[in-house]
Amino acid sequence: MKIAIDGPAAAGKTTLAKALAKALGFLFVPTGAMYRAAALAHKRGLSLADTEITVGEEGRIFLNGEDVTHLLSNPDLDELSSKLAADARVRARLVELQRKIAAGRDVVMEGRDIGTVVLPDAELKIFLWATLEERARRRRREQGGSFEEVLEAIRRRDERDSTRSCSPLRPAPDAVLVDTTDKTPEEVLALVLKLVEERRAKLGC
Ligand code: DC
Repeated sequence: MKIAIDGPAAAGKTTLAKALAKALGFLFVPTGAMYRAAALAHKRGLSLADTEITVGEEGRIFLNGEDVTHLLSNPDLDELSSKLAADARVRARLVELQRKIAAGRDVVMEGRDIGTVVLPDAELKIFLWATLEERARRRRREQGGSFEEVLEAIRRRDERDSTRSCSPLRPAPDAVLVDTTDKTPEEVLALVLKLVEERRAKLGC
């Protein structure tokens, strides 16, 4: 079974996808972290064509074999990854890698274009959402800084991610919209696990 989780920055995609994958015993694939790794490669002067980005246990990300997971939440990479993600060549390379990772496996993959482009045949598609203010509050708790600056940075990324011509952020027509604004991560997980059970019952698997 393939589960696609999409949505804007700081909507809770990574928290949900990680917990869901653990509960189901599926592979967790954080594609935002793959775009961040591509941004890190760019900063290091590496060409993406010669760079290998792989995903390990619990969504750990490897750049040419080096575990770079701990470097990827650096706010420096927020803006650069969002800019690189608008480049059609970067997307083509990462989408190819993401499809290879998912082939023949049970996965929970999270990002912006998973239900629309990467895994259009996913058995369950979730579009996770929360208000801009709530997402800024969550990101500020993780990264610190002024609330206004964090909010403005998220707003800029939302704008770029959803208006780019190549695979813009938008819900797939068959995605289930989940508003997480007033929900705890545990409540969101319970709700989505219920959706998984319903989908499995329907598919007979
Ligand atoms: O989820 P994140 O904030 O770590 O993602 C970093 C950037 O990568 C984000 O601005 C949008 C981009 N991205 C994308 O375009 N497509 C994906 N499938 C995942 C992330």
